[in-house]
Amino acid sequence: ELGPYNHFMQKEIHEQPKALADTIEQVLEEGFSPALFGDADGELLRQVEGVQILACGTSFYAGSVAKYWIESIAKLPCTVEIASEYRYREAVANPKYLIVTISQSGETLDTMEALKYAQSLGHDLSLSICNVRESAIPRASRLVFYTRAGAEIGVASTKAFTTQLVALFTLAATLAKLGGKLNSDSEAHHLDALRQLPGSVQHALNLEPQIKPWADRFSPKHHALYLGRGVHYPIAMEGALKLKEITYIHAEAYAAGELKHGPLALVDEAMPVVVIAPNDSLLEKVKSNMQEVRARGGELFVFADLDSHFGESDGVHVIRTPRHVGVLSPILHAIPVQLLAYHTALAKGTDVDKPRNLAKSVTVE
Ligand code: F6R
Repeated sequence: ELGPYNHFMQKEIHEQPKALADTIEQVLEEGFSPALFGDADGELLRQVEGVQILACGTSFYAGSVAKYWIESIAKLPCTVEIASEYRYREAVANPKYLIVTISQSGETLDTMEALKYAQSLGHDLSLSICNVRESAIPRASRLVFYTRAGAEIGVASTKAFTTQLVALFTLAATLAKLGGKLNSDSEAHHLDALRQLPGSVQHALNLEPQIKPWADRFSPKHHALYLGRGVHYPIAMEGALKLKEITYIHAEAYAAGELKHGPLALVDEAMPVVVIAPNDSLLEKVKSNMQEVRARGGELFVFADLDSHFGESDGVHVIRTPRHVGVLSPILHAIPVQLLAYHTALAKGTDVDKPRNLAKSVTVE
């Protein structure tokens, strides 16, 4: 079952080009069409005035990326909330909002209960993004998009996450199109970005030999910080979650601009700081955040783009992601943080596929 791989997580990380291509296939065939979600003529999705995303864990981080896409591409307000929080608070419902649940397994109890709670508040319009056909959450939802990642066995989610991001990007572009916010040039551009994605992800996987020596430096550490900004901030959160889940190293993610509002106090020579630093409009801001870290002796591990000009220097290690896929850049940057967690776990000798205290599908509260 494992083929040439040692762990399911490793296999699933390397299956991402295929999982993504399989998920993208239907989008390339139909374009950004509401039919992809089960809304044949767009009657339901056209009415949407905003989006409320509900999910847990890694799926919540996928939703956190989607917020940026939905607001910037579809120009619709979007909020993202942890399902276990939403279900127990007195939320103010707006039935014109689309409820989007994201769940790999489709069986996560908190997400299911959050959906039911939203429905009890008058939300008739729900959409499930799910990897398991006919599981509980898609069955309880009006619309559904199935990611085609194939079975995910490793407890730490990898290919489910990146395919969820494709589904959510497709949702943002579809809502934009229905709302008259996507011209045909942008549509062609976005479809082209999707078409190129599996190849770009393969290039990112080829960084593995460069990441292994980083993992050796991480394995004796007790703490790590992950920084990102904008649409890459949730990728920092996902990277920190992967590291803590499978290596038991305490990792925290911060929006880089928050550093000086508190966490900078943690930084000293013993603190490795991972920075997601793509070559986007926020790069200069990220660089000044990096200087703040360096000035306190923190060691920087930077994931940059091929075309950005920063050099390695004392205490600053840089790995460049091979090619930039524009608006889909967060998907590309998810790959090296998965690999870093995986190889750090190998170096520590922890049980990669079955980390202590965790279950693959959380059907209890
Ligand atoms: C982390 C991880 C969990 C799940 C979470 C939600 O690697 O796998 O955080 O993402 O338990 O699970 P699903 O997506 O099945 O609802």
